[in-house]
Amino acid sequence: MKRKTKLIHGGISGDAHTGAVNVPIYQVSTYKQEGVGNHKGFEYSRTGNPTRHALEELIKDLEDGKRGFAFSSGMAAITAVMMLFKQGDHILLTDDVYGGTFRVITKVLNKFGIEATFIDTSSISNIQEAIQSNTVALYIETPTNPLLKITDIKAASALAKEHGLLTIVDNTFSTPYFQTPLPLGADIVLHSATKYLGGHSDVVSGLVVVNDDDLGSDLHFIQNSTGGILGPNDSWLLIRGIKTLGIRMEEHERSAQEIVSFLSTHPQVEKIYYPGLPAHPNHEISRQQALGFGGMISFDVGSEEKAANLLSKLKYFTLAESLGAVESLISVPAKMTHASIPKERRAELGITDGLVRISVGLEDVDDLIEDLKQALE
Ligand SMILES: Cc1ncc(COP(=O)(O)O)c(C=O)c1O
Repeated sequence: MKRKTKLIHGGISGDAHTGAVNVPIYQVSTYKQEGVGNHKGFEYSRTGNPTRHALEELIKDLEDGKRGFAFSSGMAAITAVMMLFKQGDHILLTDDVYGGTFRVITKVLNKFGIEATFIDTSSISNIQEAIQSNTVALYIETPTNPLLKITDIKAASALAKEHGLLTIVDNTFSTPYFQTPLPLGADIVLHSATKYLGGHSDVVSGLVVVNDDDLGSDLHFIQNSTGGILGPNDSWLLIRGIKTLGIRMEEHERSAQEIVSFLSTHPQVEKIYYPGLPAHPNHEISRQQALGFGGMISFDVGSEEKAANLLSKLKYFTLAESLGAVESLISVPAKMTHASIPKERRAELGITDGLVRISVGLEDVDDLIEDLKQALE
């Protein structure tokens, strides 16, 4: 099945009982049992719900994995994955991960004795050097949010495997339409499905796919035990969003490429981050491991004042957290999504106060460029 077909016919399509072409919303918490333990596969909706199950089957197919899981947010998904580890375990993570990931690791999971080191995983030798005797996992975000750094998934997971580590990839920015980390060697892939997978700024959710039955059982145990599940309405919204993921991603990327060309020559733009630029340090790796460079662009206008000035003049770019939606969104990571990262650390990473991140939406790209042009001037 080709990628666009899989988005529509992957997982479970329709309803076998009625012939409905869409999976219905099973707004139900519990299920009748004919005798104790004698049921039709569902007993309680925290453990399993047919609408959520259809979504979990779909994301499993899209990521070429063994088992999928839907959570109430990307952070719930990340936290559930981290629950696979125990006190004294050490995890290596990409240094400019999403601010919320940094926060849960350094302010919540640290209390449970899970140790972590943040490194620039775009260099494989950095990973090699940071592995400790108690390291159990390598957590990669690629492309990263907001600096769009790229890690070589194949090389990183091969190294991780040599050392007995699990490789976890946050695939939010690329989506399985452009990048599938499991066939490249990763063990677990996860998403903030709030972003491109949902695509319409109307649902908060997280998805996880694993490539191994035992990992699948462990994660289901955690999902059922900790309970951060996605409800049936939101599961249905995600299934609907995913059907158009292919055409959306292609259009996001086409427009992003045009905007990057415009920004690259603009005198007000000091630095631009986009993996599709040949000058991007890991452009070739991105080209090899992904089928597209995506619709996210970050650029530095040099100062907080200039960034504020730009934001105040834009008409079509909505100032908002989040990304991956039909409407173009703009944010200042240092003040918004990455405010939970200490200022000195942000400075080290290059997340300056003048850094602006845009999520290119599906508006006409001429309007978007015109808007940026008048605002930058
Ligand atoms: C790359 C990445 N991972 C994880 C998350 C967390 O997801 P959520 O906001 O759905 O909890 C985000 C949110 O912005 C993100 O950008």
